[in-house]
Amino acid sequence: MSKPESTFTPQEALTSPRQPEKIGRSFKDKDILSLEQFDPESIAHLFSKVPKMSETARNSRQSHLLDGGIVVHVFYEPSTRTRLSFQASVEQLGGRALIVENPQAYSSVSKGETFEDTIRTVEAYCDAIVLRHPEVGSAQRAADTAEHVPIINAGDGIGEHPTQALLDLYTIYEKFGRLNGLTGLVAGDVKNGRTVHSLLEGLSLYPDNLVYLMAPEILKLDPTELEHLRQKGLKVEEIADQKDIPKDANFWYWTRVQKERFDGEDEYQQANNQFIVDQELLDEKGSADTILMHPLPRVGEILPEVDADSRAVYLRSQVRNGMYVRMALLGLVLGRMD
Ligand code: NCD
Repeated sequence: MSKPESTFTPQEALTSPRQPEKIGRSFKDKDILSLEQFDPESIAHLFSKVPKMSETARNSRQSHLLDGGIVVHVFYEPSTRTRLSFQASVEQLGGRALIVENPQAYSSVSKGETFEDTIRTVEAYCDAIVLRHPEVGSAQRAADTAEHVPIINAGDGIGEHPTQALLDLYTIYEKFGRLNGLTGLVAGDVKNGRTVHSLLEGLSLYPDNLVYLMAPEILKLDPTELEHLRQKGLKVEEIADQKDIPKDANFWYWTRVQKERFDGEDEYQQANNQFIVDQELLDEKGSADTILMHPLPRVGEILPEVDADSRAVYLRSQVRNGMYVRMALLGLVLGRMD
């Protein structure tokens, strides 16, 4: 595949005409870069593998699915859940997980090595690369560069975070048994939240979904993306006040204001914590079935008093599903199951 000539800006990358390969029913050797690669059939296929993965993990059974396989995690940005759950997934399946953390400081990147050379080097040692990078389009760029191994996007700047969306969708599916005909609320940093972008893309694949977006004025969804989602059939309503939250939505998806995407502290402070979930809000606007999700980390936008409520799944099924879904994905992408 051809290489891009230079680093491109986030806006160019978001509207880049290059489309990653569709998954269809075969994940083998495919890069996982965006939810745009998926359709309901590919998602159903992935999800059909998840219960077996969760059983393996919960029973501490040694799986040999990834025997001999090596997955390298190259993380240019901090991470707790994504990195650890990927590593744990590889280990659960009998493979080996290696990590290049903070390559800017601890690898030849610090000597001036290019991103492309780093990717070409890493691919020589492994069967797949899991990449997190601050630049939109970096995962696509890595995929264009790597000749032999698939790239899994673990977050490319404000772009996408497809594996988080897959585990989010799985968490919703597990609760409601479907991914269509749902009403959801997405709150917080809708503009910069890559998990939000991937989740909305995923929800747009199914009919009759309605999503309320509640963001501070400066953190609203990019109008081009909004239009794109509406064209795909997702119904989207923008609201600006907690009093306008619809009653009895199926899910709430709260997010952190992405401090690292701001130029100045003042702008961040103005936007931060405009919307906060406390027990009163959940009781007033949620139903007995509403699930409260968050990709984590949270930094004050969901009060700890809510954690004990069984509807709060962020530190329960949502976080656990992260590992199970990634186990299934790795098994499929590495061609160890059909
Ligand atoms: C998110 C991310 O890195 O985009 N975290 C995650 O991977 N679960 C969300 C965030 O950092 O706010």
